[in-house]
Amino acid sequence: MSEKVYDVLPQAAANAYINAEQYKEMYARSVNDSDNFWAEQADAFISWFKKWDKVQDWNYHEGKIRWFEGAKLNVSYNCLDRHLEKRGDQVAIIWEGDNPQSDKKITYRELYEKVCRLANVLKAQGVKKGDRVCIYLPMIPEAAVAMLACTRIGAVHSIVFGGFSPEALKDRVLDSGCEVVITSDEGLRGGRPVPLKTNVDKAVAHCPNVRTVIVVRHTGRHMDMVAGRDVWYHEEIEKVSAECAPEEMDAEDPLFILYTSGSTGKPKGALHSTGGYILYTAMTHKYVFDYHDGDIYWCTADVGWVTGHSYIVYGPLANGATTLMFEGVPTYPDAGRFWQVIDKHQVNIFYTAPTAIRALMGQGNELVTKTSRKSLRLLGSVGEPINPEAWEWYYHIIGEDRCPIVDTWWQTETGGILITPLPGATKLKPGSATLPFFGVVPALVTNEGDILEGATEGNLIITRPWPSQMRTVFGDHDRFIDTYFKTYPGNYFTGDGARRDEDGYYWITGRVDDVINVSGHRMGTAEVESALVLHEAVAEAAVVGYPHDIKGQGIYAYVTLMADIEPSEELKKDLVRLVREEIGPIASPDVIQWAPSLPKTRSGKIMRRILRKIAANEVENLGDTSTLADPSVVDHLVTNRAVKS
Ligand code: WT7
Repeated sequence: MSEKVYDVLPQAAANAYINAEQYKEMYARSVNDSDNFWAEQADAFISWFKKWDKVQDWNYHEGKIRWFEGAKLNVSYNCLDRHLEKRGDQVAIIWEGDNPQSDKKITYRELYEKVCRLANVLKAQGVKKGDRVCIYLPMIPEAAVAMLACTRIGAVHSIVFGGFSPEALKDRVLDSGCEVVITSDEGLRGGRPVPLKTNVDKAVAHCPNVRTVIVVRHTGRHMDMVAGRDVWYHEEIEKVSAECAPEEMDAEDPLFILYTSGSTGKPKGALHSTGGYILYTAMTHKYVFDYHDGDIYWCTADVGWVTGHSYIVYGPLANGATTLMFEGVPTYPDAGRFWQVIDKHQVNIFYTAPTAIRALMGQGNELVTKTSRKSLRLLGSVGEPINPEAWEWYYHIIGEDRCPIVDTWWQTETGGILITPLPGATKLKPGSATLPFFGVVPALVTNEGDILEGATEGNLIITRPWPSQMRTVFGDHDRFIDTYFKTYPGNYFTGDGARRDEDGYYWITGRVDDVINVSGHRMGTAEVESALVLHEAVAEAAVVGYPHDIKGQGIYAYVTLMADIEPSEELKKDLVRLVREEIGPIASPDVIQWAPSLPKTRSGKIMRRILRKIAANEVENLGDTSTLADPSVVDHLVTNRAVKS
């Protein structure tokens, strides 16, 4: 908790689209005159082939959310065609490779042509409006090309992060029923190749629905191509025309699926739709980052996550921005890479995650102060709460007290930023995401669902829809309703807890469900548990998050072995390997503790509250253990608490 307040910087206010007065007025209008407010924004930001019949129509009890129904538009048209006249020769994408020697710039006209060609390739492969296409690519421009090519013909993309394992890729390809996968020979991160095509081969062997794999040549390593299934991107795009008419989509037609983890079961396919999503991402990109013509904007996320979808590709390109795409990692060739890239490409707006800030902060200031960073005007943070210490370092050392920080709270489900400062309008408090964006009405409630007023702390809900809210869980609308609208009926439940201070500022305290956030990557503890129990030596597993200096949260696994199995370091390694195979390296447990048994209630429910406290080493204060079937289990776990290996 920090008491510090930073006033709006005069240089940020001078140029900004929205000052404090305007924020208040526009916010009030966005809530009290919602239909007219959003109709005006939709007119201002988006080119429609046909206007809507109705601005919004919703019923949270049924999980029904509709915006701009009856309107027609095309997302790739909004991101490309309409910019050509004015900014055909402007750079759309600056690509910075993993290797500091490799980079390239792609203009809007070049991007347009690439997108049309790939769209024609997809059509030639039989992809039609509504069909799903899986994208499993590294951070190369072809990822953006593939997304836009899908939108051009009305296909629904489902991007799977390149760090996911073949097993996780297979699950997602099957669930979404993709018929085409777009991948590359390899990815490159920190000088090391990532075997993407090989992973696809393993995954697709179990996906009878996949008939075509399109392979982008990136590192150039030899690949075995499966005859009749695999085609080279660079060969196919030469066979087709560089023009492709954009499909007219309804505002409520699906745009993409993106899998995200919840507290139970398998990851769910969050389905986003067309009109509301592109409006909201364009509008938030412009106002939150105060994007002006000519600015160079860099979001360091991967397109495999929602941040990459909304704030590397769709929002920026809809606004005709220059967006930087970075293939590498913050520490390669050294931990000054971010600051070097900022100087190299004269980046004005920089958006990254607290985990990266903390990791780089730990490397000392010398690598930072060696660089100029004079081009920087605004900094952003996303993915997890930013601790005030990291915030201050970001503000004073990286931004030299000259750049406002926008701490943006949102989720895969929300499609775009919901709680955030606006740089010309909002006083900043380190660690607070501050105030709601236009049209967003947050509230805090008790566990029983009673609304809390004033300065308080509780569960964070949103009481009405905004245009980029997800529309359903792909293939399972009941799960959508159960997950988000049943806990506090008639409201969207975020899964987060938050505090609200006397100025109405929100301070996100973290998840209140069994979801953990590891280096800004969201994970269900249940998924990691399911992977662990696949091992024949494992009888039971319980996974919790614990505070981790760099990652925010680390993964702590309690494992009960089968009766006749001896614990060993070898077995621990096996279990970590198994989790990496089932999910991917991001899910590797940081700590495994052997647990002869787990603390359970008499009805057999694992008491995670106690496991979380032991993992966090808060053992003095374990709370009430009287409902446990066997309280001595806890003593054993406390005495044998594992320290990070
Ligand atoms: C969860 C959503 C949205 C982009 C990346 C993550 C946490 C996100 C913040 C923030 C505190 C944050 C929440 C949220 N989170 N941004 N600025 N301050 N917490 O998307 O993977 O869907 O994760 O990330 O806990 O629920 P995601």
